[in-house]
Amino acid sequence: MATFSWLFLLAAFIAAASLSSPAAGGGGGGNNPTAGFVKVDLTDGDFQVQSPYNVPESQRFRYRNGVRTFWVYDSDKPFNTATHTNPRTEVRLRGHDYSSGVWQFEGYGYVPSGTSGVSVMQIHNEEGAEHATILMLHVYNGVLQFYDGTIVENNIYDRWFRLNVVHDAAASTVAVYVDGRHKFSTNAIPSKSYYFKFGVYMQHHDWSNCMESQWTNVTVYTKSY
Ligand SMILES: *[C@@H]1O[C@H](CO)[C@@H](O)[C@H](O)[C@H]1NC(C)=O
Repeated sequence: MATFSWLFLLAAFIAAASLSSPAAGGGGGGNNPTAGFVKVDLTDGDFQVQSPYNVPESQRFRYRNGVRTFWVYDSDKPFNTATHTNPRTEVRLRGHDYSSGVWQFEGYGYVPSGTSGVSVMQIHNEEGAEHATILMLHVYNGVLQFYDGTIVENNIYDRWFRLNVVHDAAASTVAVYVDGRHKFSTNAIPSKSYYFKFGVYMQHHDWSNCMESQWTNVTVYTKSY
């Protein structure tokens, strides 16, 4: 779709431009991305599941022993009848939308071999924003990427990885850490407010028939200036 391509090109351009500036991202250069942050209290009710409208949630989502498992099929319907977006089974973290300060998503993710063409984590802008997201992490054939551009991490399949995504809302920078190591930073186009999403959201190429991700120990942190 034209809008999507334009957004991607812009995102890729900004990502490329920021590569030469290792300080971008504001997440700190160390290997402990949560240092100096304060944990936000999350309740189960903050984890709002969005799944295809025509099947019961229990056929696309499971929450057991602290692990949330999300799956979706390429032939599935969107999450409601009003949208024409691709199939998804995702959590929209609610109650903690933010517009200032530094915010951080942490989660332990697992993507089984075979899952491809899918977003597993997003920083979403407010509803009705000109651009829907400032960050999406896609998986294509075992590689974790910023949208379908810059490689964030190779060999993502079949292992638990720790993901930290740090968003400095004022500076409008994002930084991505995998297993505690800084992997990627970029500048983002500012929006009014933001929230985190994770799960599976089918993308526009190289998708598999079934897409799955699992998440546990999801934590949100914040830090003021
Ligand atoms: C999640 O947290 C629990 C309790 O701290 C820990 O035992 C478990 O290993 C963690 N899971 C992962 C995948 O790190």
